[in-house]
Amino acid sequence: MVLNYEEINYERLLQGYRILITGGASGIGRETALLFAKHGATVAIADRDRAAGRRTEAELRDISPASFLVVADLGRLEEVDRVADLVIERFGSLHSLVNNVGVFEPGFLIEQPIEALGRMLDVNVTGTIRMTQRILPAMFENRNGTLVHILSDYCLRGAPGVSLFAATKGAIYSFSRAIAYEYSRYNIRSNCILPGMNIGSHGERYIEHYGETEAEEDFAQFQPLAGRGSTLDVANAALFLASELSRFVNGDQIDITGGAGAKAHKQYRRREEGNWKQFATFLTVPTTEKLQAGGLK
Ligand SMILES: NC(=O)c1ccc[n+]([C@@H]2O[C@H](COP(=O)([O-])OP(=O)(O)OC[C@H]3O[C@@H](n4cnc5c(N)ncnc54)[C@H](O)[C@@H]3O)[C@@H](O)[C@H]2O)c1
Repeated sequence: MVLNYEEINYERLLQGYRILITGGASGIGRETALLFAKHGATVAIADRDRAAGRRTEAELRDISPASFLVVADLGRLEEVDRVADLVIERFGSLHSLVNNVGVFEPGFLIEQPIEALGRMLDVNVTGTIRMTQRILPAMFENRNGTLVHILSDYCLRGAPGVSLFAATKGAIYSFSRAIAYEYSRYNIRSNCILPGMNIGSHGERYIEHYGETEAEEDFAQFQPLAGRGSTLDVANAALFLASELSRFVNGDQIDITGGAGAKAHKQYRRREEGNWKQFATFLTVPTTEKLQAGGLK
């Protein structure tokens, strides 16, 4: 079947869709949830942050009244299963799953405790794969499903201080391609979005550490396009990948990096100052504070 313009409602690209977005309380997940609701979807969000989750749920319900929040720690398998059970019970069948939840603990490989890898694996890999495993069968009957994985440009390009995180995101990058093939027989497509380092929480950490002016200068060196990418830039790509607009796109990816992949890198400025260490340190500070605050928010 080849779609033509008349068959696509460009105002309501997800009309009637039932969608689960993990980590949907804030950042990219929240932006995506609200955009999807505006396009006619009923959206379930799963997040461990109850307060932010309730706020987003209220915004969602103003647009799409049957949307709802499930509070859960998606780094724990029993919690992932509970979310999947509840969402399948409420929705019956699903059209899309957006695997957005992710945790980021930066640091140099030889200094990082191996436990940091375990914490990132639990959420970024095991929880994500388990959720996909549980939700996929609930897409079969529609013969029209989409999986969208929000990963990282570190899947493709390196930087100091991100090796463990990159390893976890890279796992889902490969996973996505394998299941894209395996479930294509149900017309279920699996695609990735690779946001760049100045988008969402990653960009905020950078600006927090270096200040607006210095951060802007750095961003100008990282990518050909000026400025920062936004959470809406990622949500727009997710809308394309979740909807029929991308009906012939499978096992692929969209980079949201301002063209970083098109650039043969100029030497990273801080390296010239002999200061790679600083790059990794800036990333570590807020994470450590967050970890100390601990557990569920
Ligand atoms: N360059 C990059 O690598 C890059 C840049 C931006 C975003 N991303 C990825 O995009 C995704 C979203 O990023 P963001 O900037 O919007 O992040 P964010 O921190 O603003 O939002 C993440 C959401 O996930 C929730 N969450 C975290 N751990 C959870 C857990 N164990 N259980 C349930 N919920 C949990 C948080 O409460 C939060 O609402 C992440 O996967 C992130 O790694 C990557």
